[in-house]
Amino acid sequence: MDTSTTNDYSKVVAKDKANVWHHLSQHKKYETMDPIVMLEGKGMYVWDTNGKRYLDAVSGAVWTVNVGFGRTRIADAVRDQLAKLNFFASLMGTIPGAEFADALIDKMPGMSRVYYATSGSEANEKAFKMVRQIAHLKYGGKKNKILYRERDYHGSTISTLSASGQPQRRAMFEPYTPGFVQIPHCCEYRSQYGDCDDYGARSVEEVEKIILREGADTIGAMILEPVTAGGGVLTPPEGYWEGIQALCKKYDILLHIDEVVCGMGRTGKWFGYQHYGIKPDIVTIAKGLASGYAAISCTVTTEEVFEMFKAPMDDKMSYFRDISTFGGCAGGPAAALENMKIIEEENLLDNVTKMSVYLMDRLNEIKDKHEIVGDVRGKGLFCGLELVTDRETKEPVDESVIQAILADCFANGVIIGSTNRSMEGYNNIICLSPALICTEKELDEITGAIDAAIGRL
Ligand SMILES: Cc1ncc(COP(=O)(O)O)c(C=O)c1O
Repeated sequence: MDTSTTNDYSKVVAKDKANVWHHLSQHKKYETMDPIVMLEGKGMYVWDTNGKRYLDAVSGAVWTVNVGFGRTRIADAVRDQLAKLNFFASLMGTIPGAEFADALIDKMPGMSRVYYATSGSEANEKAFKMVRQIAHLKYGGKKNKILYRERDYHGSTISTLSASGQPQRRAMFEPYTPGFVQIPHCCEYRSQYGDCDDYGARSVEEVEKIILREGADTIGAMILEPVTAGGGVLTPPEGYWEGIQALCKKYDILLHIDEVVCGMGRTGKWFGYQHYGIKPDIVTIAKGLASGYAAISCTVTTEEVFEMFKAPMDDKMSYFRDISTFGGCAGGPAAALENMKIIEEENLLDNVTKMSVYLMDRLNEIKDKHEIVGDVRGKGLFCGLELVTDRETKEPVDESVIQAILADCFANGVIIGSTNRSMEGYNNIICLSPALICTEKELDEITGAIDAAIGRL
C-alpha cells in the first residue's frame, strides 16, 4: 500500500497525546515519547502516522479483526444501511437484525434467540441478568450464583470483572458484585494436582466439590471460555468438557459459553465450543462478530431459556426487562452479515485449520530451538507460547522479558500480544491471533520475528 509519508500528522499526534486516555496504558511514558497513532490498514497490515508498516499478528491488538483490514464491502454494507435506517431501538426489528439473527442461528444448531448489544462485557452482563431473573422466576430467587473459572476473563464492567479469574485485572475495583464463585483453572501445564494422567477428570471433580459446597440449589449458571484467551491461551484437557457438560445437566446449571474471542472462526469452527460437543444454554459473541467494522455483540440463547421469559400479557414484570440503546444500531448486524459472508465465500474456516497446523509447526520449532519456551499451545489461529526460566521447575520468566520480546518485534514491524497484567507471575505468555486470512508467508514473518527477538534477549 502506498501510504503517504508526506502528510504531517504531528498535530494529530499532539492532540492524541494531550487529550486521549488510552486503554490499558500507563501514560507516564508519554511524557518522554509520542503515542503511536494508527492511520490505515489493509489485509494483515497496518500503517502508523509515521508511515511505518506493521504485520499485525493479533488482529487489531485484541483478537478482533478476523477478516482483516480494509474490507470496503463491509464498510459499504454499513454505509448503505446507515443511509437507509441507521437506528431503531431493538423494541422493534430491523432488516439486518432479522437477517443476521437467522444467519447466525444457522451456524449454531440448538440455539435459537439473538439479543443484540454492543460489547463483550455487555453481552455477558445480559446473560448474568437472564440467569438472575430466571432464579427469581423459577427458584424463588435462590439459584442465582454464577460459577466462573480462575484465569478466564469476561469483561471490564464491575460484574463481569466479578466473574473474571484474573486478580490483576480485578485489583482495586472492589467491592465486587456478590454471587460469583470461582472454580479452579484447567491449565494442565500448571497442574494444581501434581502429575496425573486424568487431569481433565480431576479438574471436573474439583468443580463438583465446589457445587456441593455452595449447594446446587444456589447455582444458576457457569460461565466459561471454550479456550481461555487473555488468561494465557489455555486449551482444555482431555475429558474436561464432557465432564463439565455432565455436571451442568446433573445439577440443573445453565452453561454459558463466552465466545467473545473464540467465536466467528478463530479456532477453525464457527464457535470454539463446537470442537468439544458442548450444548450450551447461552453463548456470548463480540470481537470478531463484525471484525471491528461495527460495535456489535450478541447474547444467544436456546428456545428453552427464551421461553422462561415469555410471560402472560397481564404479568407486568416477568419478561426480560433489559435494553441496550445501541443494540438498536442497524449498522452492527449489517456489518456482521457481510463479515459472515466473507468468512464463507473465502473458505476462511478451512484456511484457519490449514494455517493453524503450519503455525503450530513453526512455534514448535521455536520451542525446540530456545530453552526459554516452556510450552506451546493453541486451537486454530489462536496460540500461546509460555516462557520459563527453567523447563524443569517451570518458573515463569519475569514479564519484562515478554515486554522486551514484544518491543523487539514491534520495532521490527510485527505486532504480537501477551498476557497483559492479568495474573501476577503469569504475565509470561506470548499470544498470537492473526486474522483468519493469513498465509504461510505472513506466519513465517511473524514466527521469524519472535525467533529473532528471543535470540536477541
Ligand atoms: C473472553 C472475553 N470475554 C469478554 C470480553 C470483554 O469484551 P469487551 O472488551 O468487548 O467488553 C473479552 C475482552 O477481551 C474477552 O476476552
